[in-house]
Amino acid sequence: MRLILPLPGNEAFASQLARAVGGDLGELETRRFPDGEHYVRLRSDPAGRTVDLVCTLARIDEVFLSLIFAADAARGLGAREVNLIAPYLGYMRQDSRFQPGEAVTSTSIARLLSGSFDRLVTVDPHLHRYASLNEVYAIPSLALHAAPLLGRWIRESVTDPLVIGPDAESEQWAAAVAAAAGAPHLVLSKTRLGDHDVRITLPDLSRHRGRQPVLIDDIASSGHTLLAAAQQLVAVGFPAPDCAVVHAIFGGDAFAQVSAVAGRVVSTDSVAHPSNALPLAPLIAQALAAAQPAPE
Ligand code: R5P
Repeated sequence: MRLILPLPGNEAFASQLARAVGGDLGELETRRFPDGEHYVRLRSDPAGRTVDLVCTLARIDEVFLSLIFAADAARGLGAREVNLIAPYLGYMRQDSRFQPGEAVTSTSIARLLSGSFDRLVTVDPHLHRYASLNEVYAIPSLALHAAPLLGRWIRESVTDPLVIGPDAESEQWAAAVAAAAGAPHLVLSKTRLGDHDVRITLPDLSRHRGRQPVLIDDIASSGHTLLAAAQQLVAVGFPAPDCAVVHAIFGGDAFAQVSAVAGRVVSTDSVAHPSNALPLAPLIAQALAAAQPAPE
């Protein structure tokens, strides 16, 4: 039976996953030494087992070393396979040197994680300039898709929905959500001028009058993409748009700002947040059950 080991803060997700996949929920002890260094101890025996470390990688900087230490400990104690289940995969948006001299952090994180894990399972990683995770990760990496979950929520909860992606890159994804929702879709035009400065332009929406807009996005971080899109839609007479996102990062007061303009805001539970309404454990459990063991 596989051993599901949560990093701190991931216990609820791991417990759902263990139930869904029929695995043992293990225990990991972590703390800081007085000098701030990390202490990690596996309280469940990984010897001869497939070990799935569960750790969402939002705010990855706080957890990264403990994660690597736990993976290396599991391997050192005889685990047969050590996998990373990261419902949200951080650092994927710095996938290019946008300004001279910038670090392409997505490749650094990929190299470090690939050195300690046999396999990566994640959900909707931010793949804009990379065609797939295999371009950056050296281990078998599985990117699952939450579009059917978002689409089902829209189909069951919104009357006459209009699915709206915030930018041209979201076209394919918005189409997949809309297909699952049984709704029409379109995308907006977005220009990002800074971390908190997003400009959105609307296309001609006249033929969609009377529909309930539903903004979808893979990540809500500063919240300014959703905010700017919602403000524009309301300004031209649409009702406050509902929002459905995969990864609810919502830094600072982003959630309050978006909620002040939007209707309902829902997300998957890839990052623990009050907006969580769409559990991912069944999707991940299905993928784990179908996966072949990693090569020796
Ligand atoms: C961008 O390409 C992504 O799909 C999201 O639209 C973006 O990351 C959202 O970020 P924020 O909430 O900071 O506007």
